[in-house]
Amino acid sequence: MAEALWTGVAQAYARSFAGLCAGTIPALLDGLPRGARLLDVGCGTGALVGAARQAGHDAVGVEPDLEMAGLAAAALGREHVLVGGLPELPMADDGYEVVTAAFVLNHVEDPRAGARELARVAAPGAVVRATIWGATPPPQAVMWGGLLDAAGARRVASPRLAPERDFERSADGLAGILAEAGLTVTAAGARSWTWRVAADDLWCGLTTVGNFGVAWRAQPEAVRARLRSAYDALGPHHAFDVECVLVEARLPRS
Ligand SMILES: C[S@@+](CC[C@H](N)C(=O)[O-])C[C@H]1O[C@@H](n2cnc3c(N)ncnc32)[C@H](O)[C@@H]1O
Repeated sequence: MAEALWTGVAQAYARSFAGLCAGTIPALLDGLPRGARLLDVGCGTGALVGAARQAGHDAVGVEPDLEMAGLAAAALGREHVLVGGLPELPMADDGYEVVTAAFVLNHVEDPRAGARELARVAAPGAVVRATIWGATPPPQAVMWGGLLDAAGARRVASPRLAPERDFERSADGLAGILAEAGLTVTAAGARSWTWRVAADDLWCGLTTVGNFGVAWRAQPEAVRARLRSAYDALGPHHAFDVECVLVEARLPRS
């Protein structure tokens, strides 16, 4: 299961890719009415919920992975983090004026059912904002792929959803599944930023989180040693120009 990739990786995620995903927080919170009831689905370490609360919103997160939810609760307080996941959130219908899902619909088993659930918990007139990675491999993946090849690593195919479950990883594709869920799409496009990360923190993510970690764990010791020294030669800091897809939609009032 795609969700299984998130078990046991919370600490490594917090050190590495949480910083990457945090690059979209300003856009996800931009222009919201102050004091909005906001639900962040798949909240991870809780960074978006923390920023939303600081901005004066009545924000909570929901997250299926217990370790990740524990990190979020430690940062935000237990009362601001619930345990649960798509496609069945532990929330009543129509409860939130803003629903966000940052880099979550690209990780679930049934993205369309996930999108319908975002719409179910949204109040009439609510804003729903979601991000995913597009189809082009991001620069950190290109870098890691180059290191794997140079080290003679065995390449492991990333698991894919069945074609009838999957959706196009693009602004149109994400807009499409939100529209199918009954939402009216109001904006769909790309967001770009520069992700700066210390090499040690990124190494922690590359050797643990998601498909990066799967690739690392598949390698024998000699390949791992070559990967480490090639990685170290790249220097103590990295900066990647990254881009994601962001779609905003609204739940019609009637
Ligand atoms: C790439 S991380 C993004 C975390 C956070 N939104 C952020 O931007 O840092 C993906 C998150 O989705 C969560 N997740 C996985 N399956 C999920 C599901 N079925 N429903 C909700 N969240 C899920 C993972 O546990 C993980 O926290």
